Amino acid sequence: MSALHVENKTETEEKKQSASEIAKTEISKCTNVESSRKRKHDAEEDVTVASTSVPSDLTMSGSTKKYKDATDINRVIDNTTLVADHYNSLEEKDLSQRNQSRIVYMRNFNNWIKSMLINEYIGKIRQGKSFGASLRVLDMCCGKGGDLLKWKKANISHLICADIAQVSLEQCQQRYNDILNKNKDRGSKDRGFAPIFTAEFITADCTKVRLREKFADPSMQLDFVSCQFAFHYSFESLSQAECMLQNASESLKPGGYFVGTIPDAYDLVSRWQKCDGNKFGNDVYSVEFISEDKTKPALFGEKYNFHLDGVVDCPEFLVYLPTLCKLALKHGLELVAFERFEEFYKRFKDEGRSLLGNMQALETYPPYHESPLLGDSERDYHHAIEYMQNLPANHRKIGTLSQSEWEVTSLYAVFSFRKMKTIWNSEGKPEYVKF
Ligand SMILES: C[S@@+](CC[C@H](N)C(=O)[O-])C[C@H]1O[C@@H](n2cnc3c(N)ncnc32)[C@H](O)[C@@H]1O
Repeated sequence: MSALHVENKTETEEKKQSASEIAKTEISKCTNVESSRKRKHDAEEDVTVASTSVPSDLTMSGSTKKYKDATDINRVIDNTTLVADHYNSLEEKDLSQRNQSRIVYMRNFNNWIKSMLINEYIGKIRQGKSFGASLRVLDMCCGKGGDLLKWKKANISHLICADIAQVSLEQCQQRYNDILNKNKDRGSKDRGFAPIFTAEFITADCTKVRLREKFADPSMQLDFVSCQFAFHYSFESLSQAECMLQNASESLKPGGYFVGTIPDAYDLVSRWQKCDGNKFGNDVYSVEFISEDKTKPALFGEKYNFHLDGVVDCPEFLVYLPTLCKLALKHGLELVAFERFEEFYKRFKDEGRSLLGNMQALETYPPYHESPLLGDSERDYHHAIEYMQNLPANHRKIGTLSQSEWEVTSLYAVFSFRKMKTIWNSEGKPEYVKF
């Protein structure tokens, strides 16, 4: 307990340092993106746009040179097929294989972030409901069902799982059936045992297909939409981003939440701008931008190839937050929070301390004899060594993440949007108002 507490402080100090460093570069990056956005705006002024309610700086319907360029590069290959093939081909690993991964602590840490995030917003929804009321969820880009146990814990009543990768979705369904059967076995022994949520599974490209039409009951209203480590795939183009947001928005009841995790574009671009060439990373991850121009990232279609040790190897797209917020607002989704993982961790480290331990989300330093360090002992633990030097002698162990893993996970941020109230105007079009 005290080791974890101590570790949290070390991490926090580390993060403060990196956050202020990043903050400096973010300002220059922000100026670059902002001025690029202004340039696009100027270039767009005389262009007729498809939807008048889209803010003018988002209306790059293929006619803006920069936008067209970024999109053209991507059109050479069908990115969504690449992504689906990649995830379909990932071997399913059992727990012991997962535990041998070089990045097991980072993956557990990311899982902890998702658990805390889901708990936070499911908690908000529950506050407005009577005891025992139903709670329905859409897990958009659910993958192999890594969050199924989180939904079980959250005690939801119905889950809709959607993903483009059919093999992953089948594995997700199999996992759900296993949980269901296990639960039935326990239920047959314990009469007070509650049944778990019902579920349905949809194979679809969530950036191109209207999900509501595929729901078993297309009239169903949901309380919560989750999109974990996947929303960035939609920023290949304006129409794909809009489709994904529309899927989230029109699934939700007013007051419902759309919550997820994405790479922070400011951080990605600041690392890109700092590196020589277009590629940066370390021994566990790499990011390679396709465009040669670091100063004017496109709002859509700004592609980079992301590689993460044995887990991810496919194209992704920058999600510039102001653009996301404007588009989301158009679809009746109001930003509630956007927090880097380091900030989110700071906010929840005390509340989530026992879960951090249970999920093995941090590596013990110095290691126990029987479990050697997964990172490079020379390179990856300077922060831990430094921190321990300032500890009282009775603090012999702390929990931490290796430097290499931290460099990956600190790229990410959590986001949450709330579905606004819908009113219908005299032309029969929806307008959204705040609560
Ligand atoms: C990094 S995995 C995350 C899986 C899961 N959300 C989790 O947190 O464990 C990204 C997932 O997004 C899915 N995906 C990517 N693009 C998609 C699209 N256009 N439509 C639906 N799913 C997509 C992939 O197939 C993959 O399962």
